Amino acid sequence: MDVQTHMKELVAAEAARHVESGMILGLGSGSTAALMIEQVGRRWQAGEVTDITCVSTSFQATGLAQEFGMPLAGLNDVDHIDLAIDGADEVDPALNLIKGGGGCHTREKLVDARADRFIVVVDATKLSDVLGSFPVAVEVLPDAYRQVMVALTAMGSQPQLRMAVRKAGPVVTDQGNLLIDAAFDQIAEPRELERAINNVPGVLDNGLFVGLADEVLVGDVDGDTASVRSIRR
Ligand code: 5RP
Repeated sequence: MDVQTHMKELVAAEAARHVESGMILGLGSGSTAALMIEQVGRRWQAGEVTDITCVSTSFQATGLAQEFGMPLAGLNDVDHIDLAIDGADEVDPALNLIKGGGGCHTREKLVDARADRFIVVVDATKLSDVLGSFPVAVEVLPDAYRQVMVALTAMGSQPQLRMAVRKAGPVVTDQGNLLIDAAFDQIAEPRELERAINNVPGVLDNGLFVGLADEVLVGDVDGDTASVRSIRR
């Protein structure tokens, strides 16, 4: 296994150690979250944790939980979520995030915001002094995509409809909507921008996650050595 993969495995394993028996657990999306779900799944199958209920953020997370036979529930079936663990595309020093590289941010925000504790799993390349290196994903109703793109341009971004690979046309989200990637230079006021984008008619939600993360587990690689550190709020 190469050192980058080893580092991601370490971060995922460290996050999975926070899962305890009896928890209602939010399962994030993306490649790092997928490794975490596998680690939780192994602990579940080994009987190390029992009586957990998983709330999924995506088709991907649901499939992985099913592979390991972990019990799933919908957001409307649970009265709280103890812990959510999810990846991110960019993290600032205040632990504000840009998510949505995998196009799952609408359900991710529902789950991550609902959790009593939200842990983010990333590698060190995702850390940034000011958000804006990664475009802000915006999920839109298909009928609204053109007018939302006009509104995002007026906000100073360069919006692009996310196109599919190995399928003609745009990416369609798990909810049947479209995605616009809005590139902003430096996002000085992420909370204001998050609200402004969500105020545009036709927008479901965007990938700015402000004030939600409690802890970020960061994987580092130094030569052949991988390590994990924690940044808390
Ligand atoms: C999906 C996400 C992912 O968590 C984010 O894109 C990070 O993914 P990865 O761990 O593969 O880099 O927000 O919508």
